[in-house]
Amino acid sequence: MRMRRKKHGAERIAACSELLIENGADVTAAFPDKEKPLCLEIGCGKGGFACGMAAAHPEINLIALERVADVACLALEKAKACAEERPDNLRFMIADARTLLELFPEHSIDRIYLNFSDPWPKKGYAKRRLTYADFLKTYRKILVPGGALIQKTDNENLFDFSLEQFAAEGLRVEYMTRDLHNSEYAEGNVMTEYEQNFSSQGMPIYSAKVIFE
Ligand SMILES: C[S@@+](CC[C@H](N)C(=O)[O-])C[C@H]1O[C@@H](n2cnc3c(N)ncnc32)[C@H](O)[C@@H]1O
Repeated sequence: MRMRRKKHGAERIAACSELLIENGADVTAAFPDKEKPLCLEIGCGKGGFACGMAAAHPEINLIALERVADVACLALEKAKACAEERPDNLRFMIADARTLLELFPEHSIDRIYLNFSDPWPKKGYAKRRLTYADFLKTYRKILVPGGALIQKTDNENLFDFSLEQFAAEGLRVEYMTRDLHNSEYAEGNVMTEYEQNFSSQGMPIYSAKVIFE
């Protein structure tokens, strides 16, 4: 997602500081109710999914991670605008997923969401895909035993690649579908901005849930 640099970006982010966890801060201390399962969305974009999930699921705490500050700024502002519509269970971090082990304690996360991650189609860039083996090993470290990863994508090649990586890592596939919106797993699905765009064009959405046992 390429964007022009936001005018007054730092000030706009600072105006939403109550929703932002600084890198290196204690993530588990960021929520008023620390007993709720902690979920993590990686690459949240403009924050539509994060806001929708947090509102629909008051029983969880959700951290939405985004590496591009200007994009995170839009997500923060969206979350701030609808803060009254949900419990105080949503926070954001501006960081790259490559630094996850510096950000999260071991076994602190219950569920990871990867929504429409960049596909990095060139073979030489496979290591950048967020379902590459090295990322899965990192996820295993920060997830609780039995923790889950839920992926949604429009990109069949990325999906097939991901299924191979899940199998190589020994993950249990709880479900997988090549047409989420017309499947039994559609109920309760919260759409992302990309998902709305792709599905409005009639494109199928690929999704899988895998368990780190
Ligand atoms: C294709 S967009 C999808 C945005 C959103 N999830 C959606 O479905 O509408 C991918 C997003 O992931 C972010 N991203 C990509 N790689 C990342 C990484 N390594 N760490 C954190 N964010 C990342 C990008 O900056 C971008 O905002």
